Amino acid sequence: MQTHELFPGGPIVSRMAYGCMRIAGTWNPEEIDAEKRANAHAALRAAYEAGYVLFDHADIYSQGGCETLHGELFAESPELRRQTTIATKCGIRFAGDPEPTSPHRYDFTKNHIIRSCEESLKRLQTEWIDIYQLHRPDYLMDPDEVGEAFEKLADAGKVRCFGVSNFPPDKVSALQRSLRHPLAVNQVEIHLGRLDCFEDGTLNQCLEKNILPLAWSPLGGGWLGEGGTPPEDKPHLVELVAEMDKIAEREEVTRTEVALAWLMQHPAGIVPIVGSANPERIAQSAVAPDILITRDDWYRLLVLARGAGLP
Ligand SMILES: NC(=O)c1ccc[n+]([C@@H]2O[C@H](COP(=O)([O-])OP(=O)(O)OC[C@H]3O[C@@H](n4cnc5c(N)ncnc54)[C@H](OP(=O)(O)O)[C@@H]3O)[C@@H](O)[C@H]2O)c1
Repeated sequence: MQTHELFPGGPIVSRMAYGCMRIAGTWNPEEIDAEKRANAHAALRAAYEAGYVLFDHADIYSQGGCETLHGELFAESPELRRQTTIATKCGIRFAGDPEPTSPHRYDFTKNHIIRSCEESLKRLQTEWIDIYQLHRPDYLMDPDEVGEAFEKLADAGKVRCFGVSNFPPDKVSALQRSLRHPLAVNQVEIHLGRLDCFEDGTLNQCLEKNILPLAWSPLGGGWLGEGGTPPEDKPHLVELVAEMDKIAEREEVTRTEVALAWLMQHPAGIVPIVGSANPERIAQSAVAPDILITRDDWYRLLVLARGAGLP
């Protein structure tokens, strides 16, 4: 099993991360009213109480609104900042930014990376970001230019370590060659309905380079949780969730816990980023590490998730 004590905030105490993408309850920052603000603060406080340490953001979540909501909590309770490993991301630019005619695009230019980071620092009301990630590969990525931006941010004490998201192994290698420090994380979609990373070299590269794999949408956006039903275009997954229910009943846990524990059995040390904004579900998810999925169960679920037997 990989060890990941590389975060300056200390070792990852909880083997799970909390994802802040849904806390505002809207993608439009103008819709964040008093009720949405209170719900967001309640979700974050529930995550702290449940023991989460690593909190994942992005500049685009509610167009900065999610970072602002977390920053308000740090201003109210400064001791929380020291207990938090803050991750955030840059590099995706929506249509209309900054000109009405600007297209949706990815932007890893030095100026954009530095400006985005400085804006996130302000919204989060913090002096440093623990893990700064590039959100999606920029087709025009110049690794040397990214390296210069990262060095400037690290030298100014604004970022402690860097990572990527949705990067295939060849792009991780191409970027790493121009960086002074090793990339710390690759945040990718991994769950029982999305198995690509097990087969495309992503997890092997994480093992080889000691990169921490952060799994986004570990419940597939919700359907892998108890009571959820698989997407209609994937009928073979009905059998998968039935088997998960059986294991959950036998182990006296929830299906959510089975889904998370399945990910966490992988030797690359996959860290699921739990995305619920419901305080009760946030607390329940945090206990998943205590459950052991046996090797036989792991493979049984893999085969049902693939919808085909192993070679
Ligand atoms: N890097 C990227 O490109 C990328 C992309 C997407 C996400 N992310 C990161 O990953 C984090 C997690 O993503 P996610 O929110 O999609 O994760 P998720 O945990 O797979 O899904 C969370 C959603 O599932 C719902 N849910 C949970 N349990 C449920 C149940 N038993 N029945 C029905 N619905 C249930 C939650 O609703 P309630 O809130 O009501 O519980 C919430 O809407 C995000 O916050 C973000 O940090 C990154």
